[in-house]
Amino acid sequence: MVAILGYSKEQIREAVQEMYTSVARAPESPFHFPVGAGACLKLGYPGDQIKELPEDTLASFAGVGWPFRGQALRPGHTTLDLGAGAGNDTLIASRIVGANGHVIALDLTAAMTQKLQRLIASNRGNISVIQASAESLPIASETVDSITSNGAINLVPSKRLAIGEMFRVLRPGGRLQLADVVIRRPVSVDCESDPRLWVECVVGATVEEDLLDMLGDAGFIDIRVLKRQDYFALSPSPQTREIAGSFGAHSVEISARRGPRSPGKLQTLLRRSNPIRWIRHLHRHGFSGVASLGLALISCYGVLAITGLLALAGVRMTLSPDLWTLAIAITTLLAGGMIAAGFLQHRNPSPLLLAAAGVAAVQYALFIEYHVLSEILGFALLGAGAVLDVIRRRKSEARTLGL
Ligand SMILES: C[S@@+](CC[C@H](N)C(=O)[O-])C[C@H]1O[C@@H](n2cnc3c(N)ncnc32)[C@H](O)[C@@H]1O
Repeated sequence: MVAILGYSKEQIREAVQEMYTSVARAPESPFHFPVGAGACLKLGYPGDQIKELPEDTLASFAGVGWPFRGQALRPGHTTLDLGAGAGNDTLIASRIVGANGHVIALDLTAAMTQKLQRLIASNRGNISVIQASAESLPIASETVDSITSNGAINLVPSKRLAIGEMFRVLRPGGRLQLADVVIRRPVSVDCESDPRLWVECVVGATVEEDLLDMLGDAGFIDIRVLKRQDYFALSPSPQTREIAGSFGAHSVEISARRGPRSPGKLQTLLRRSNPIRWIRHLHRHGFSGVASLGLALISCYGVLAITGLLALAGVRMTLSPDLWTLAIAITTLLAGGMIAAGFLQHRNPSPLLLAAAGVAAVQYALFIEYHVLSEILGFALLGAGAVLDVIRRRKSEARTLGL
């Protein structure tokens, strides 16, 4: 469950269904992620919660955490198990909500829903099974009291759509408990040639803060991260463990409550245009060098252009040369530092060396002997370093992913 660019949503859904058909039909096959009763116990399920689950259902468990830590379900609830798989959590939920409650088990993969249908055929009880996508729930608005989901959102191409759908079907005040895979650093390379990466590992997962932001954007409140686990340490594949480690992939258990109404357009716009979010986003995608160089260029030539234009318009603005020089020096050093930091990821010294030469040339022009050519040369070297850093970061990601 690692992030994929360059795929059509349909290709992703097909790849997901193919993988989880195998988990449903041949759970004993080797998978790159932990499966079965052993994984269930290691991820925190109490033994007495799973001891009465059918062996065949447990064998196809492919969850990533213990969402029930969120305690969202109550007796009498109508509960949705989103991405229910073979139905381990559905059966646990069915016991919690009791005879007066109802569990809707929804999954994209036919083999999973069929497996659960067969299991409950003789005694349907309080469970109904639906094959559908989380991005378009065939469930009426505000009819569900609680949602549980384990390991599904990271596999959904449009997470914002799925989260919006969860909000829509929940009643105001309804509760969500979620276990999912998240990453610390997004995957930026195109993984066009290899849909397997989406279904097996880190490529579908979102950065943890982005997932929490998406829940908040949709109108969820009281969003809490209850636990983080090194889920991929349980993977039998050394390659998956390496990829997961390199992107900081782990699982989280989250609880949240549906707010009274979905946020208005203005509120959404303000939340989504928060500059802190954008800075974080640029940094995570490896663009902090390019962005801080942009800032240095603005503080140098942008300020020059603005004061020039204002003078043409008859507005006189006095600019302290010392302050201006200091601003250019600081932003240039920042750009150099950000470009150099890429070395920690790709271990290639060229961007760092270009950035160091660029910073030196600009500082020379600022503090020792000004010449426009050394200033321009400095910025050009920084620009080359920033571009090379982005290219090297992408190459190192592609290598880690085995592309
Ligand atoms: C990692 S498995 C976990 C299954 C189950 N929750 C468990 O704990 O065993 C994820 C499940 O989500 C389902 N899934 C993936 N994408 C989905 C989507 N877009 N809509 C609904 N279910 C989806 C898969 O078919 C799979 O059964």
